[in-house]
Amino acid sequence: MSDSELNYQEYGRKLLTALFGALSALRLYPVENETVQQSLTELHSLVDEVVEAEGSAEIRVVGDFFFLNETRLRLDLSNFATFGAFAKALGTHGIGAVEIVKGIERSEWAPFLSMLLRPPVADAPYEGFLDRLEQAPVRNLSVRAASDVDDPGDNDEEALTAAKRTYAQSVKVAEEVMSDVRIGRAVNVRKVKRAVQGIVDQVLSNESSMMTMTTLRDFDEYTFTHSVNVSILSVIIGQRLGLDRVQLYELGLGALFHDIGKQRLDAEVINKAGSLTDEEWAQLKEHPTEGLLVLFGMHGFANAPYRQMLMAYEHHMKVDLTGYPQNRREREPSLFSRIVAVADAFDAGTSVRSYQYEPWPPDAVLQEMRDNPKRGFDKLLVKVLITATGVYPVGTLVILDTHELAVVAKVNPDPDLLHRPVVRVISDPVGLPLAEPKAVDLAAPDPATGRPARQIIKTTDPQKYGIRVSDYLIA
Ligand SMILES: [Fe+2]
Ligand SMILES: [Fe+2]
Repeated sequence: MSDSELNYQEYGRKLLTALFGALSALRLYPVENETVQQSLTELHSLVDEVVEAEGSAEIRVVGDFFFLNETRLRLDLSNFATFGAFAKALGTHGIGAVEIVKGIERSEWAPFLSMLLRPPVADAPYEGFLDRLEQAPVRNLSVRAASDVDDPGDNDEEALTAAKRTYAQSVKVAEEVMSDVRIGRAVNVRKVKRAVQGIVDQVLSNESSMMTMTTLRDFDEYTFTHSVNVSILSVIIGQRLGLDRVQLYELGLGALFHDIGKQRLDAEVINKAGSLTDEEWAQLKEHPTEGLLVLFGMHGFANAPYRQMLMAYEHHMKVDLTGYPQNRREREPSLFSRIVAVADAFDAGTSVRSYQYEPWPPDAVLQEMRDNPKRGFDKLLVKVLITATGVYPVGTLVILDTHELAVVAKVNPDPDLLHRPVVRVISDPVGLPLAEPKAVDLAAPDPATGRPARQIIKTTDPQKYGIRVSDYLIA
């Protein structure tokens, strides 16, 4: 990472904080109040600095993410709420971006921000805002409509193709690693590192394309796809926590290796379709310890991969230590281990692992993980996962109130609309399959009524309908 990028991150966060500060002050006090004036001065001098250096500054909101010019700002949990509130203020007026050009004067900020605080014009919030802006003494600030603002990494087709390539390569690498460990051959660590870097890059440039790939839950390839899915989901959680690229790589690597210890156990136990005997269960519980040992003995790292060893060792421990391996002393599983535990349980819970075992619908898995303390997950991390997956994760088969069947295709980035994703409708109200699945945004208002035309009434089991959901998502 270069120095200038670091500064950009810092500037960006400061700028958002100042904007939010000024907005909150104006909400509480009249404009001549000292707090308001101070916050405006602060805001103006920050903006001035960026505009002087760059010629202009654009703050853009795309889903959960903020961009300052072309840099995506990494936000951590503590400032997430603040920035979310600012994004919302823009969103109610249909604004997706604010541009500030050279010549901006301090006096322009108060009228501009006050306009953001006014209730939006009912039928056409964005056009209404433009009208008001036209009449205000604001010359060097302009806005763009949310519908105009494109996500630089969100060219769907292209992103999905790139995601497919990354995914396929990673599954192949996972397969190689596992068979190497099983037969006691040296692992090509460099290849694994490259695969994980690919996962991190793809998640950073287009999270939703990689999320889609995790719905490819292929029964025959479960062992390999599972480790890749856990790696992807862990990196997604990690990036939402504000981890940097190097940390995400460390996390993704450990996640890919989390079950590597299973390769030291009897294959029949690992792949057994039915329930396990006590003895087999005892053997399975050895996989975290075995994983730690496999990684400790793996060549190709500069130092022993301690973080990854810990993730392998701790991922079934549970936050209250009631899992396994057992502990004699108090300890807290590391953050990375807690992330992997959440990603692992979500993927395992939603996959078909045996013919006897019926997977739960993804929304029920998330709910159980969040609400049942006996499961032993870090609640906050489960919530972070839910902001990424939505209430109905991608790949969930749902029944709409129109009686149509649909597959969830994309989470709605607005945290208030996590229950209204974009779906592909695949059958008509009587249950006849459509020739061509139809994309519908369940949050988009119907022009006739002003309210969304459809909503999800429940989730259902794809097996019951003989449907492979990934067929509708990954063409
Ligand atoms: Fe495991
Ligand atoms: Fe696992």
